[in-house]
Amino acid sequence: MKVGSWNEWDPLKHVVVGRADGTMVQAPESAVVRDWPEDGFPLGTYGPLPEEMTAAANEQLDNLAHVLESRGIRVDRPRPLDFSRPVATPEWSQQSMFGAMPVRDVLVVIGNELLEATMSFRSRWFEYLAHRPLIESYYRADPGMRWEAAPKPRLTEASYRPGFRDEYDALPYEEQIARVRAGELVLTEAEPLFDAADIARCGKDLFVQQSLATNAAGIRWLRQHLPEHRVHGVTFYNLHPMHIDATWVPLRPGLVLHCAERPADEDLLQYFKINDWQVVQAAPPGRQTPPPLSACSRWLSMNVLVLDPGTVCVEASETAQMEQLDRLGFEVVPVPFWDVAPFGGGLHCATLDVHREGVLEDYFP
Ligand code: ARG
Repeated sequence: MKVGSWNEWDPLKHVVVGRADGTMVQAPESAVVRDWPEDGFPLGTYGPLPEEMTAAANEQLDNLAHVLESRGIRVDRPRPLDFSRPVATPEWSQQSMFGAMPVRDVLVVIGNELLEATMSFRSRWFEYLAHRPLIESYYRADPGMRWEAAPKPRLTEASYRPGFRDEYDALPYEEQIARVRAGELVLTEAEPLFDAADIARCGKDLFVQQSLATNAAGIRWLRQHLPEHRVHGVTFYNLHPMHIDATWVPLRPGLVLHCAERPADEDLLQYFKINDWQVVQAAPPGRQTPPPLSACSRWLSMNVLVLDPGTVCVEASETAQMEQLDRLGFEVVPVPFWDVAPFGGGLHCATLDVHREGVLEDYFP
Protein backbone atom coordinates (compact mmCIF):
# COMPACT_ATOMS: atom_id res chain seq x y z
CA MET A 1 0.00 0.00 0.00
CA LYS A 2 1.44 3.32 -1.09
CA VAL A 3 0.10 6.84 -1.50
CA GLY A 4 1.72 8.47 -4.49
CA SER A 5 0.74 10.20 -7.73
CA TRP A 6 2.33 13.02 -9.71
CA ASN A 7 0.03 13.51 -12.66
CA GLU A 8 -3.30 12.59 -14.25
CA TRP A 9 -2.06 9.76 -16.52
CA ASP A 10 0.56 7.41 -15.02
CA PRO A 11 -0.60 3.78 -14.53
CA LEU A 12 -3.37 3.78 -11.96
CA LYS A 13 -2.92 1.26 -9.14
CA HIS A 14 -5.29 2.39 -6.40
CA VAL A 15 -8.29 4.69 -6.51
CA VAL A 16 -11.24 5.89 -4.43
CA VAL A 17 -14.67 5.85 -6.12
CA GLY A 18 -17.38 8.03 -4.53
CA ARG A 19 -20.82 6.96 -3.34
CA ALA A 20 -24.21 8.53 -4.07
CA ASP A 21 -25.90 7.53 -0.79
CA GLY A 22 -27.74 10.34 0.95
CA THR A 23 -26.61 13.11 -1.40
CA MET A 24 -28.58 16.33 -0.92
CA VAL A 25 -29.72 19.17 -3.08
CA GLN A 26 -28.05 21.41 -0.55
CA ALA A 27 -29.78 24.14 1.42
CA PRO A 28 -29.10 27.67 0.16
CA GLU A 29 -25.95 29.37 1.39
CA SER A 30 -23.88 32.39 0.43
CA ALA A 31 -21.62 30.34 -1.86
CA VAL A 32 -24.39 28.62 -3.82
CA VAL A 33 -28.13 28.46 -4.28
CA ARG A 34 -30.10 25.86 -6.19
CA ASP A 35 -33.19 26.84 -8.15
CA TRP A 36 -34.72 23.89 -9.94
CA PRO A 37 -38.50 24.47 -9.82
CA GLU A 38 -39.26 22.07 -12.68
CA ASP A 39 -37.52 19.23 -10.87
CA GLY A 40 -39.00 19.67 -7.43
CA PHE A 41 -36.45 22.01 -5.86
CA PRO A 42 -37.55 25.63 -6.27
CA LEU A 43 -35.37 28.39 -4.82
CA GLY A 44 -34.97 28.06 -1.07
CA THR A 45 -35.87 24.37 -0.86
CA TYR A 46 -33.51 21.49 -0.25
CA GLY A 47 -33.58 17.78 0.45
CA PRO A 48 -32.25 14.38 -0.57
CA LEU A 49 -32.02 13.51 -4.24
CA PRO A 50 -34.80 11.08 -5.19
CA GLU A 51 -34.22 7.45 -4.22
CA GLU A 52 -34.49 6.09 -7.78
CA MET A 53 -31.84 8.55 -8.91
CA THR A 54 -29.59 7.61 -6.01
CA ALA A 55 -29.96 3.91 -6.80
CA ALA A 56 -29.22 4.49 -10.50
CA ALA A 57 -26.11 6.53 -9.65
CA ASN A 58 -24.87 3.93 -7.17
CA GLU A 59 -25.29 1.23 -9.80
CA GLN A 60 -23.06 3.15 -12.19
CA LEU A 61 -20.52 3.97 -9.46
CA ASP A 62 -20.42 0.28 -8.43
CA ASN A 63 -19.97 -0.69 -12.05
CA LEU A 64 -17.05 1.72 -12.41
CA ALA A 65 -15.50 0.13 -9.32
CA HIS A 66 -15.88 -3.32 -10.92
CA VAL A 67 -14.42 -2.18 -14.24
CA LEU A 68 -11.37 -0.81 -12.43
CA GLU A 69 -11.00 -3.88 -10.19
CA SER A 70 -11.21 -6.20 -13.19
CA ARG A 71 -8.13 -4.37 -14.49
CA GLY A 72 -6.23 -5.05 -11.29
CA ILE A 73 -6.73 -1.60 -9.76
CA ARG A 74 -7.47 -1.48 -6.04
CA VAL A 75 -10.72 0.40 -5.33
CA ASP A 76 -11.83 1.88 -2.01
CA ARG A 77 -15.13 3.58 -1.21
CA PRO A 78 -15.89 6.40 1.25
CA ARG A 79 -18.27 6.09 4.19
CA PRO A 80 -21.32 8.30 3.61
CA LEU A 81 -22.46 10.47 6.52
CA ASP A 82 -25.99 11.59 7.28
CA PHE A 83 -25.77 14.52 4.88
CA SER A 84 -29.29 15.70 5.70
CA ARG A 85 -28.12 16.90 9.13
CA PRO A 86 -27.72 20.61 9.78
CA VAL A 87 -24.13 21.52 10.55
CA ALA A 88 -22.52 24.41 12.36
CA THR A 89 -19.26 25.93 13.48
CA PRO A 90 -19.21 28.56 16.24
CA GLU A 91 -19.61 31.20 13.50
CA TRP A 92 -22.42 29.88 11.28
CA SER A 93 -24.92 27.12 10.77
CA GLN A 94 -26.06 25.48 7.57
CA GLN A 95 -29.22 23.43 7.06
CA SER A 96 -27.65 20.52 5.16
CA MET A 97 -24.46 18.96 3.87
CA PHE A 98 -24.01 17.63 0.34
CA GLY A 99 -22.62 14.09 -0.26
CA ALA A 100 -19.70 11.68 -0.63
CA MET A 101 -19.32 12.18 -4.35
CA PRO A 102 -16.83 14.25 -6.20
CA VAL A 103 -14.01 12.75 -4.15
CA ARG A 104 -11.84 14.73 -6.57
CA ASP A 105 -13.19 17.99 -5.17
CA VAL A 106 -12.07 17.36 -1.61
CA LEU A 107 -8.75 15.53 -1.83
CA VAL A 108 -5.67 15.53 -4.02
CA VAL A 109 -2.54 13.40 -4.01
CA ILE A 110 0.65 15.18 -5.02
CA GLY A 111 3.66 12.90 -4.75
CA ASN A 112 3.49 11.13 -1.39
CA GLU A 113 1.26 13.82 0.05
CA LEU A 114 -2.49 13.48 0.45
CA LEU A 115 -3.89 16.99 0.85
CA GLU A 116 -7.36 17.89 2.08
CA ALA A 117 -8.69 21.00 0.30
CA THR A 118 -10.29 23.85 2.20
CA MET A 119 -13.56 23.70 0.21
CA SER A 120 -15.62 26.89 -0.04
CA PHE A 121 -19.24 25.80 0.45
CA ARG A 122 -20.52 25.54 4.01
CA SER A 123 -22.47 22.46 2.91
CA ARG A 124 -19.16 20.82 2.04
CA TRP A 125 -17.13 21.96 5.06
CA PHE A 126 -17.37 18.57 6.77
CA GLU A 127 -17.13 16.44 3.65
CA TYR A 128 -13.58 15.33 4.45
CA LEU A 129 -15.07 13.27 7.30
CA ALA A 130 -16.64 10.89 4.77
CA HIS A 131 -13.11 10.13 3.61
CA ARG A 132 -11.26 10.13 6.92
CA PRO A 133 -11.64 6.40 7.68
CA LEU A 134 -9.82 5.67 4.40
CA ILE A 135 -7.21 8.37 4.96
CA GLU A 136 -6.50 7.06 8.45
CA SER A 137 -6.05 3.54 7.10
CA TYR A 138 -3.65 4.80 4.41
CA TYR A 139 -1.67 6.68 7.02
CA ARG A 140 -1.34 3.52 9.11
CA ALA A 141 -0.38 1.36 6.12
CA ASP A 142 2.11 3.66 4.36
CA PRO A 143 4.87 5.06 6.57
CA GLY A 144 6.01 7.25 3.68
CA MET A 145 2.70 9.04 3.28
CA ARG A 146 2.42 12.72 4.19
CA TRP A 147 -1.01 13.75 5.40
CA GLU A 148 -1.78 17.43 5.10
CA ALA A 149 -4.86 19.61 5.38
CA ALA A 150 -5.05 23.19 4.16
CA PRO A 151 -6.09 25.70 6.85
CA LYS A 152 -9.71 25.06 7.74
CA PRO A 153 -11.55 28.13 6.45
CA ARG A 154 -13.93 30.14 8.60
CA LEU A 155 -16.43 30.69 5.77
CA THR A 156 -18.02 33.66 7.50
CA GLU A 157 -19.93 36.21 5.43
CA ALA A 158 -16.59 37.97 4.90
CA SER A 159 -15.59 35.14 2.54
CA TYR A 160 -18.42 35.90 0.10
CA ARG A 161 -19.12 38.96 -2.02
CA PRO A 162 -22.51 40.29 -0.88
CA GLY A 163 -25.23 40.16 -3.53
CA PHE A 164 -22.84 38.54 -5.99
CA ARG A 165 -25.27 36.46 -7.98
CA ASP A 166 -27.84 39.14 -8.82
CA GLU A 167 -25.18 41.67 -9.58
CA TYR A 168 -23.18 39.30 -11.78
CA ASP A 169 -26.18 37.91 -13.65
CA ALA A 170 -27.18 41.44 -14.63
CA LEU A 171 -23.78 42.27 -16.17
CA PRO A 172 -23.16 42.11 -19.91
CA TYR A 173 -21.00 39.20 -21.12
CA GLU A 174 -17.81 41.26 -21.53
CA GLU A 175 -18.01 42.49 -17.95
CA GLN A 176 -18.75 39.03 -16.64
CA ILE A 177 -15.69 37.68 -18.42
CA ALA A 178 -13.61 40.55 -17.06
CA ARG A 179 -14.73 39.53 -13.57
CA VAL A 180 -13.82 35.89 -14.24
CA ARG A 181 -10.37 36.88 -15.46
CA ALA A 182 -9.83 39.22 -12.51
CA GLY A 183 -10.97 36.50 -10.11
CA GLU A 184 -13.77 38.69 -8.77
CA LEU A 185 -16.51 36.12 -8.40
CA VAL A 186 -18.45 34.98 -5.35
CA LEU A 187 -15.37 34.43 -3.15
CA THR A 188 -13.51 37.31 -1.54
CA GLU A 189 -9.84 37.11 -0.61
CA ALA A 190 -10.53 37.04 3.12
CA GLU A 191 -8.88 33.62 3.50
CA PRO A 192 -7.35 30.91 1.26
CA LEU A 193 -10.03 28.79 -0.44
CA PHE A 194 -9.70 26.05 -3.01
CA ASP A 195 -11.35 22.87 -4.17
CA ALA A 196 -8.93 20.11 -5.11
CA ALA A 197 -10.74 19.61 -8.44
CA ASP A 198 -9.50 22.99 -9.65
CA ILE A 199 -6.00 21.47 -9.82
CA ALA A 200 -4.67 19.68 -12.92
CA ARG A 201 -1.43 17.83 -12.16
CA CYS A 202 1.34 17.57 -14.77
CA GLY A 203 4.38 16.53 -12.71
CA LYS A 204 6.33 19.61 -11.67
CA ASP A 205 3.61 21.89 -13.06
CA LEU A 206 0.24 22.28 -11.36
CA PHE A 207 -2.45 24.28 -13.15
CA VAL A 208 -4.97 25.71 -10.71
CA GLN A 209 -8.14 27.36 -11.92
CA GLN A 210 -9.39 30.44 -10.10
CA SER A 211 -13.13 29.80 -9.95
CA LEU A 212 -16.35 29.98 -8.00
CA ALA A 213 -14.67 27.62 -5.52
CA THR A 214 -11.02 28.73 -5.62
CA ASN A 215 -9.65 32.21 -4.88
CA ALA A 216 -6.24 33.82 -5.43
CA ALA A 217 -5.33 33.33 -1.77
CA GLY A 218 -6.01 29.60 -2.19
CA ILE A 219 -3.66 29.47 -5.18
CA ARG A 220 -1.05 31.42 -3.22
CA TRP A 221 -1.36 28.96 -0.35
CA LEU A 222 -0.82 26.03 -2.72
CA ARG A 223 2.21 27.77 -4.26
CA GLN A 224 3.79 28.35 -0.85
CA HIS A 225 2.90 24.87 0.34
CA LEU A 226 4.45 23.18 -2.70
CA PRO A 227 7.76 24.98 -3.24
CA GLU A 228 9.12 22.26 -5.54
CA HIS A 229 6.28 22.82 -8.01
CA ARG A 230 5.41 25.53 -10.47
CA VAL A 231 1.87 26.44 -9.47
CA HIS A 232 0.11 28.34 -12.25
CA GLY A 233 -3.09 30.24 -11.52
CA VAL A 234 -5.27 30.03 -14.64
CA THR A 235 -8.65 31.24 -15.88
CA PHE A 236 -10.74 30.44 -18.93
CA TYR A 237 -13.48 32.25 -20.80
CA ASN A 238 -16.15 30.48 -18.79
CA LEU A 239 -18.92 32.41 -17.06
CA HIS A 240 -19.35 29.80 -14.31
CA PRO A 241 -15.91 28.30 -13.70
CA MET A 242 -16.03 25.42 -11.24
CA HIS A 243 -13.38 22.66 -11.30
CA ILE A 244 -10.88 22.41 -14.11
CA ASP A 245 -11.62 18.83 -15.17
CA ALA A 246 -14.29 19.58 -17.78
CA THR A 247 -12.18 22.39 -19.26
CA TRP A 248 -8.48 21.50 -19.36
CA VAL A 249 -7.77 17.77 -19.11
CA PRO A 250 -4.18 16.48 -19.47
CA LEU A 251 -4.27 12.99 -21.03
CA ARG A 252 -0.61 11.99 -21.34
CA PRO A 253 2.72 13.80 -21.69
CA GLY A 254 2.33 16.18 -24.62
CA LEU A 255 -1.46 16.03 -24.94
CA VAL A 256 -4.19 18.04 -23.25
CA LEU A 257 -7.89 18.04 -24.05
CA HIS A 258 -9.44 21.50 -24.05
CA CYS A 259 -13.08 22.62 -24.04
CA ALA A 260 -13.48 24.88 -27.06
CA GLU A 261 -16.48 26.60 -25.50
CA ARG A 262 -14.16 27.80 -22.71
CA PRO A 263 -11.15 29.33 -24.50
CA ALA A 264 -7.86 29.46 -22.63
CA ASP A 265 -5.69 32.49 -22.06
CA GLU A 266 -3.05 33.02 -24.71
CA ASP A 267 -0.31 32.71 -22.05
CA LEU A 268 -1.47 29.24 -21.08
CA LEU A 269 -1.72 28.10 -24.71
CA GLN A 270 1.76 29.43 -25.40
CA TYR A 271 3.21 27.71 -22.35
CA PHE A 272 1.93 24.38 -23.63
CA LYS A 273 2.83 25.01 -27.26
CA ILE A 274 6.43 26.09 -26.66
CA ASN A 275 6.86 22.90 -24.67
CA ASP A 276 5.59 20.85 -27.63
CA TRP A 277 2.28 19.92 -26.11
CA GLN A 278 -0.65 19.38 -28.42
CA VAL A 279 -3.80 21.20 -27.25
CA VAL A 280 -6.75 19.33 -28.74
CA GLN A 281 -10.33 20.61 -28.69
CA ALA A 282 -12.60 18.02 -27.13
CA ALA A 283 -15.23 16.44 -29.37
CA PRO A 284 -18.71 17.93 -29.00
CA PRO A 285 -20.77 16.29 -26.22
CA GLY A 286 -23.54 13.91 -27.22
CA ARG A 287 -26.10 15.80 -25.14
CA GLN A 288 -27.36 19.33 -25.36
CA THR A 289 -28.09 19.55 -21.65
CA PRO A 290 -27.07 17.73 -18.48
CA PRO A 291 -29.67 15.60 -16.64
CA PRO A 292 -32.10 17.19 -14.14
CA LEU A 293 -30.73 18.28 -10.74
CA SER A 294 -27.18 18.41 -12.06
CA ALA A 295 -25.10 21.51 -11.41
CA CYS A 296 -22.61 20.37 -14.05
CA SER A 297 -22.59 21.05 -17.76
CA ARG A 298 -22.82 18.71 -20.74
CA TRP A 299 -19.01 18.96 -20.92
CA LEU A 300 -18.80 16.14 -18.43
CA SER A 301 -18.31 14.31 -21.75
CA MET A 302 -14.61 15.22 -21.52
CA ASN A 303 -14.34 14.41 -17.80
CA VAL A 304 -12.41 11.22 -18.54
CA LEU A 305 -10.38 9.00 -16.22
CA VAL A 306 -7.00 7.99 -17.63
CA LEU A 307 -5.92 4.51 -16.50
CA ASP A 308 -2.45 4.68 -18.07
CA PRO A 309 -0.97 6.75 -20.91
CA GLY A 310 -2.65 4.44 -23.46
CA THR A 311 -6.01 3.72 -21.80
CA VAL A 312 -8.89 5.97 -20.88
CA CYS A 313 -12.39 5.52 -19.39
CA VAL A 314 -15.03 7.59 -21.21
CA GLU A 315 -18.77 7.93 -20.59
CA ALA A 316 -20.33 5.15 -22.66
CA SER A 317 -22.83 7.25 -24.63
CA GLU A 318 -20.30 9.91 -25.64
CA THR A 319 -19.56 8.41 -29.03
CA ALA A 320 -17.78 11.40 -30.53
CA GLN A 321 -15.50 11.73 -27.49
CA MET A 322 -14.72 8.01 -27.59
CA GLU A 323 -13.94 8.13 -31.31
CA GLN A 324 -11.70 11.15 -30.90
CA LEU A 325 -9.67 9.44 -28.15
CA ASP A 326 -9.50 6.29 -30.23
CA ARG A 327 -8.04 8.32 -33.12
CA LEU A 328 -5.56 9.84 -30.67
CA GLY A 329 -4.30 6.32 -30.01
CA PHE A 330 -6.04 5.38 -26.76
CA GLU A 331 -7.74 2.14 -25.87
CA VAL A 332 -11.15 3.48 -24.85
CA VAL A 333 -13.03 1.81 -21.99
CA PRO A 334 -16.70 2.86 -22.19
CA VAL A 335 -18.33 3.30 -18.77
CA PRO A 336 -21.99 4.37 -18.42
CA PHE A 337 -22.01 7.31 -16.04
CA TRP A 338 -24.60 9.96 -16.85
CA ASP A 339 -26.83 8.93 -13.93
CA VAL A 340 -24.01 10.09 -11.65
CA ALA A 341 -24.04 13.66 -13.00
CA PRO A 342 -26.67 14.97 -10.51
CA PHE A 343 -24.40 13.74 -7.72
CA GLY A 344 -21.62 16.06 -8.78
CA GLY A 345 -19.83 14.99 -11.91
CA GLY A 346 -18.24 12.51 -14.25
CA LEU A 347 -15.58 9.81 -14.19
CA HIS A 348 -12.73 12.09 -13.15
CA CYS A 349 -14.77 13.97 -10.54
CA ALA A 350 -16.02 10.77 -8.92
CA THR A 351 -12.56 9.37 -8.29
CA LEU A 352 -9.33 10.10 -6.42
CA ASP A 353 -5.98 8.74 -7.54
CA VAL A 354 -4.40 7.26 -4.42
CA HIS A 355 -1.53 5.65 -6.28
CA ARG A 356 -0.26 5.95 -9.81
CA GLU A 357 3.11 4.47 -10.66
CA GLY A 358 5.76 6.86 -11.84
CA VAL A 359 8.02 9.62 -10.62
CA LEU A 360 8.11 13.41 -10.58
CA GLU A 361 8.98 14.71 -14.01
CA ASP A 362 9.30 18.10 -15.62
CA TYR A 363 7.12 18.14 -18.73
CA PHE A 364 7.71 21.85 -19.36
CA PRO A 365 11.50 22.19 -19.36
N1 ARG B 1 -18.13 22.52 -13.59
C1 ARG B 1 -17.82 21.55 -14.61
C2 ARG B 1 -18.80 21.68 -15.74
O1 ARG B 1 -19.95 21.79 -15.50
C3 ARG B 1 -17.94 20.16 -14.10
C4 ARG B 1 -16.74 19.73 -13.41
C5 ARG B 1 -17.10 18.92 -12.25
N2 ARG B 1 -15.90 18.44 -11.70
C6 ARG B 1 -15.79 17.98 -10.48
N3 ARG B 1 -14.60 17.59 -10.10
N4 ARG B 1 -16.79 17.96 -9.65
O2 ARG B 1 -18.44 21.64 -16.88
